[in-house]
Order: sequence, then structure tokens, then C-alpha cells
Amino acid sequence: MKNSKVKVGLMGLGTVGTGVVRIVQGHQEDLQKQTGLSIEIAKVLVQNVEKTRSLKLAEGIVTTDAADLFDNPEIDVIVEVIGGIQPAKEYILKALDNGKHIVTANKDLMALHGAEILSKAQERGCDVFYEASVAGGIPILRALVEGFSSDRITKMMGIVNGTTNYIMTKMSQEGADYTEVLKEAQALGYAESDPTADVEGHDAARKMAILGTLGFHVDMSLEDVDCKGISKVSAEDIAYAKKLGYEIKLLGIAQRDDGLIEVSVQPTLVHHTHPLASVNGVFNAVYVHGEAVGETMFYGPGAGELPTATAVVSDLVTVVKNMKLGVNGRSSVAPYREKRLKSDEQIVSKYFLRLIVDDKRGVLAQITRILAEHDVSLEQVLQQPYNGGTQSEIILITHHASRKNLFAVREQFAELESIFEVKSLYRVEGGEEK
Ligand code: HSE
Repeated sequence: MKNSKVKVGLMGLGTVGTGVVRIVQGHQEDLQKQTGLSIEIAKVLVQNVEKTRSLKLAEGIVTTDAADLFDNPEIDVIVEVIGGIQPAKEYILKALDNGKHIVTANKDLMALHGAEILSKAQERGCDVFYEASVAGGIPILRALVEGFSSDRITKMMGIVNGTTNYIMTKMSQEGADYTEVLKEAQALGYAESDPTADVEGHDAARKMAILGTLGFHVDMSLEDVDCKGISKVSAEDIAYAKKLGYEIKLLGIAQRDDGLIEVSVQPTLVHHTHPLASVNGVFNAVYVHGEAVGETMFYGPGAGELPTATAVVSDLVTVVKNMKLGVNGRSSVAPYREKRLKSDEQIVSKYFLRLIVDDKRGVLAQITRILAEHDVSLEQVLQQPYNGGTQSEIILITHHASRKNLFAVREQFAELESIFEVKSLYRVEGGEEK
């Protein structure tokens, strides 16, 4: 920091990087009033210097050599918006070695290597902030770390992936099939040509590992997140869920009961009265329940140039304020609670089951016997003719039961001769409680 100017090295000039430049340039006066310093983008790392861009950048600031940023004594803060693990991780560690503060939007890096990066930052007295890594423009990490610091969070449920929420919303509103909607989402640029990370829940799992760590103060790793995507959700599942008063959403669920934790990503039936049920399209939302505060919900854009850039630049403002106060590297709280994960016996929830059965006398009795043997009771039952009336489709919503028992029920159902197929099994949230 020289001459009341904070110099920033921006790594990446894609969608988010471009937004960062626009906000730093366009909001300069507000940023200066709030921090007392001016923020200058001093160097920008790009892949191709010759590329024509819609932005106005000062002469000579664009470079293809990352060392011009992390080894540059003039630069105070590195903003990393390249994404992916390497070379982002290498650049960030080198920048920290050189005493530079870090702002990153990189959920993959923070979910997989956050502990290493934060420990190096602590050693070097540097800040590392990553608000944009979860739910784009929603300031959820700051809410967890600061806003809820006086409370104990018991549950976080998030729609933290816009692509899958767009697909689930379209399937629900139009009764369309998964593959059809995925193709449409790809044509519109909402889904990637290889959609695996989004549709199989990996992107959401990374975000939930970050939320779990910050919300529960435990060292949550990606392997702790039980992850299932939406590629097997059918139009029929959604139609039946609706009939019973539910929407199906890809939910990240992090729950703490008596010090035991579970974190998962899975297609979940959400009761229509729950605020998450009406979060539609590419929007994100995170529902947070605290012991003292009760229910809260944060809603907004989970991606996009300017929304994500606001989160990045707000982190930059925090770094600059810390620089003025001389307190960089002191605000992060390392996980202080022991991580005790629930077993399948301790994960308790309502469940939705869809079965195709022979339309014969006694089948329903066999089903209820197996459920009773496993201590599972029913909240709702729906039966419809299937396959021209030769078979029946039975849809069940259970009361709260353990995951262990539900999986045992599913296994026994699969072995029963009169049950042709266990089509689907989903967790259920909201509606009638325990
Ligand atoms: N692929 C992500 C989504 C973008 O669909 O929400 C933000 O991480």
C-alpha cells in the first residue's frame, strides 16, 4: 500500500474477472469513501493478451506471466478468479509466501485445499476471503461467520447450484423430461457441455463442504459429503411429489443434532409451504436454522458477472479495511469443534418411495409388514394403475425414520416377488414435523 492506493493483481479476466474490473472502476468513489483508500487493478493475468475485450484497461497491465502478479512487490492483494485447482493453488501459495492477501471465488480449491491455504495465510499474517465461492452474489459466508457468530447453527439447507435448480424448475413447471430440459439448458448456456459436475451434485457438494466447515466450526472435507445428483429424477417422480404437496429440489443439507453432523447433497422433496420450495430457475437460496434465531433464509443470484463480482469486491473491501487497521490475517477462526459424523442409524428424516407392484391381493399388506418390521410408519399413501392396469404404482411418504431402516426396507422390497421395481427413494423436508 503506497500513496493511499491499494494495488490489486487480478488473475483471470473471464466472466467474474470482467465483473470485478467493472465494479472496481464503476464504484470507485463508494469504495474509496468506505475504505479511505483507492483500489487500483494494477496487473491482470490473462491467457491471451491480443484478445479483444469490452473493457478499458490501462496500458501495459495485462500479462500472461503469473509471476508479474505474485512476485510483484507493488501488489498488495491477489484476486483469483481463474477457477480449478491448478495452477490457481500454486499461484495463491506463492502469493501468500510473498505476503499478499488473497480473495478467491474458487470453491473447488477452498473445498479441497482450504485448510492448507488458510494455515499458510495464518503463518504469513495474510487474509484469505472466498465469499464468492458459495452462492455467488448471496453474502452467505459472511452471514455465517459474522452474522451468526453469537448463535449455534443447527441446520443449513441450500439450493446452491443454479443449473440443477433451473432443470428441476423446468421439469416441474412443464412436466418435461430430464434429458430434454438438460439439452435446453445447454443451448441457453446455463449448463456446461459436460454437465457432470453440476447434475451429479459435485459442485453443490463442494459448496456444502465450505458451508459445513464455517457454519458448524468443524474441519469438514469433501469426502464427508454424501452426494447424489439429479440425473435419475423422472418427470413422474416430480408429478407424484406435486400431487402430495411437494417440489423436488437438489438440496444441500447440513444438519447438527446433539453434536453429531451429517452433510449431503441429494434430490429432496420439499413441502410447498417451505420457503425453499418456491426458489425457482437459476436462483440460489440458503436456509439457516440457529438455536436462538430460529429460521432464516438468504436468496439471490448464485452466479453471473456482476452478482459474483460484488462478492469478490466486498471481500476486497474487507482486506483493505483490515490493512488500514493493521489486522490482516487475524479474522479467520480455525475450526474448533470435533467433527463427529452421524451413522446411517442417526440420520433421521421423512422419505418418499415409489414402487411398481403386481396388482394382486395382499401386496399392500406385505409392504406395510416390512415397513412395520423396520419401525417405519406412513404419512401418506397413493396408489395408481400402472402399465395399462396390469400393475400398480404405490407412492409412499413415511414419517421420520432412520436412513439405515429405510435402506433395509428398500433391500427387502427389492427381494419381494410381488414388487416389480423400487423406482425411487428420496429424502423429504418440510410439511408435518416429528
Ligand atoms: N455451475 C454453478 C451453478 C455456477 O450452476 O450454480 C456457480 O458455481
